[in-house]
Amino acid sequence: MSHQRALVAFLFLVCYASLSIVNAHPLKVCKFDRIYQLGDSISDTGNLIREYPIGVNTAFARLPYGETFFKNATGRCSNGFLMIDYIAMNAGLPLLPPYRNTTADFKHGVNFAVAGSTALSSQVLASKKILNPVTNSSLDVQLGWMSSHFDSICLDHRDCVEKLHDALFMVGEIGGNDYNYAIFQGKSIEELKSMVPDIVNTIMEGVKKVIGFGATRVVVPGNFPIGCLPIYQTAFQSNVSIAYDENQCLKQLNDFAAYHNQQLQQAIHKLQREIPNAMIIYGDYYNAYQFLLDFARFYGFDTERACCGIGGKYNFDLTRMCGADGVEVCSDPHRYISWDGVHLTQEGYKIMSAWLINEIFHKFHCHF
Ligand SMILES: *[C@@H]1O[C@H](CO)[C@@H](O)[C@H](O)[C@H]1NC(C)=O
Ligand SMILES: *[C@@H]1O[C@H](CO)[C@@H](O)[C@H](O)[C@H]1NC(C)=O
Ligand SMILES: *[C@@H]1O[C@H](CO)[C@@H](O)[C@H](O)[C@H]1NC(C)=O
Repeated sequence: MSHQRALVAFLFLVCYASLSIVNAHPLKVCKFDRIYQLGDSISDTGNLIREYPIGVNTAFARLPYGETFFKNATGRCSNGFLMIDYIAMNAGLPLLPPYRNTTADFKHGVNFAVAGSTALSSQVLASKKILNPVTNSSLDVQLGWMSSHFDSICLDHRDCVEKLHDALFMVGEIGGNDYNYAIFQGKSIEELKSMVPDIVNTIMEGVKKVIGFGATRVVVPGNFPIGCLPIYQTAFQSNVSIAYDENQCLKQLNDFAAYHNQQLQQAIHKLQREIPNAMIIYGDYYNAYQFLLDFARFYGFDTERACCGIGGKYNFDLTRMCGADGVEVCSDPHRYISWDGVHLTQEGYKIMSAWLINEIFHKFHCHF
């Protein structure tokens, strides 16, 4: 890592630390009174594990998932909190309950995200010969749940517009799994690229829909630099040094993620011009992750290996993943970025969300 980037990481820490002394909850200033989340395993707080039979039987429904904070599996794909948990806490709101826990209190928002879900519906993916092996609860299905939920809490459209005036909507991250399934089912990067317009369109249709319900502040997150994740590092390991970037991540896959993110940002800017009454901002997971990498290297974390996993350079084996028999868990997950080779540790999400919260705060022009 260059000294300059290390310094930036360090200064950010200092600024963040001092900011938290002045005001531990910068997002409180944005006065969000509810949060609604659509998405996949990056933000699922317990929906997939309530889907019978596949979800109930996933590793996410059992320890060691959740071991660090909850001491119990909640359905979060990590050892503890996710970014949406940190965002909710920072906004001074309760953690978002999963929609599928029908007895939960949804007064301050709902989490509709489902681990394994896709932006495109299972039928559309099937027409491209891509199978979603985990769930059919794609973005359109989640939007359907959202619509029924608002029908149940609003008297009419006008009432909904009033109720949602100070809500934060997170539309994604979603779409990452569409590409995951495609590439692990043998599609080329060129074929993945050809899916981007459809996926970006579907996400933007989702954004229009939530604005139609009454949303005024919407975050649309992009994809991670997937070439840094152990699952991809293992599957596409190369002995050619030019295959890697300066962070030892797979360049072609990171370029692909950046390509998706560029298309998404263009679509956001276009829609923002068409709909000036709502604020639509891009959630830059890609650069938040780059920040995390710098930060973690500076403090000597293990930035390459999965904490929970087995085998190979990256402690990852697709056929024996975290939660399978005989797969070990590291004793110090707070010193790792990757939890299970696919998802991050609580510590990783915490650092990424510190960066993101700062960005959300500025882009929504929240003022102290
Ligand atoms: C559903 O949410 C309620 C309220 O947060 C909680 O007490 C309950 O344990 C949850 N139900 C299940 C099955 O997890
Ligand atoms: C998705 O829906 C199809 C068609 O109804 C069904 O055959 C398949 O089992 C479902 N997949 C999952 C993971 O539930
Ligand atoms: C690099 O890997 C390829 C196949 O993956 C192999 O044929 C080649 O011998 C390897 N080159 C070196 C220098 O290890």
